[in-house]
Amino acid sequence: MAETRDTVVRDSPAGGRGPRLTRKADELFRGLWASLFYSQRTMGKAVLLCSSDRREGASTVACSLAAVGSEPAGVARIALVDCNFRTPRLHEMLGVREAPGVADAVLNGTAPEEAIQRLSASLDVYAAGKVAGRTLDVLRSDNLRPFLENLCSAYDHVLIDTPAVNQFPDAQVLAGIVTDVVLVAHTERTPREAVAQARKRIEAAGAKVLGLVLNHRRYPIPRFLYRRV
Ligand SMILES: Nc1ncnc2c1ncn2[C@@H]1O[C@H](COP(=O)(O)OP(=O)(O)O)[C@@H](O)[C@H]1O
Ligand SMILES: [Mg+2]
Repeated sequence: MAETRDTVVRDSPAGGRGPRLTRKADELFRGLWASLFYSQRTMGKAVLLCSSDRREGASTVACSLAAVGSEPAGVARIALVDCNFRTPRLHEMLGVREAPGVADAVLNGTAPEEAIQRLSASLDVYAAGKVAGRTLDVLRSDNLRPFLENLCSAYDHVLIDTPAVNQFPDAQVLAGIVTDVVLVAHTERTPREAVAQARKRIEAAGAKVLGLVLNHRRYPIPRFLYRRV
């Protein structure tokens, strides 16, 4: 389980390059990165970032993890992929174009290379692309699995943003392809039952929940005291 503090991560201004991390947030995300990828917990190279309900922080955590994992530049090759075809946000958060992206490659035969948007020597972003209400077509397409598998061959790590597990079946479909999942919950808003239900759904799809990120954690009293109470 990892904790991320409220207010330490916020959206960068429009056209920015993702959430700005304070030093503390940077440290927390580096810890999460290490526990995901340096502890042999992951089974493959790809990880799905899922929340149980909307606005708990899945996209923010995906961007923040990509940011820390891609430093220092040039060491690891990371793909950050928007598979939230309903309310895609990564392009806005990162200031890149929305299309062509995953949906174009999967549905319209666009060459996957055309969907690459390079943010740094280590980080490529794949936006959701032009979905035009065809979310289920993207998810049902026989091209989706090979598209994601090719990313796993081309990169060291693939981080995939998804819609909320308890609201749409999308994350479950993706969990049938990518079997390592990190759940993100809003510390103060997400009921325990919602996390349990999200977990059940992920596991029913044959995937494994690697851990839970408690996002928006507040420390109204100093952390060292908090730990003692
Ligand atoms: N740790 C955090 N601290 C402060 N704001 C956050 C944090 N995580 C997410 N947010 C904000 O909460 C909102 C929802 O986050 P988002 O990542 O889009 O959620 P989701 O992808 O689960 O719908 C965004 O405005 C985002 O900037
Ligand atoms: Mg999101």
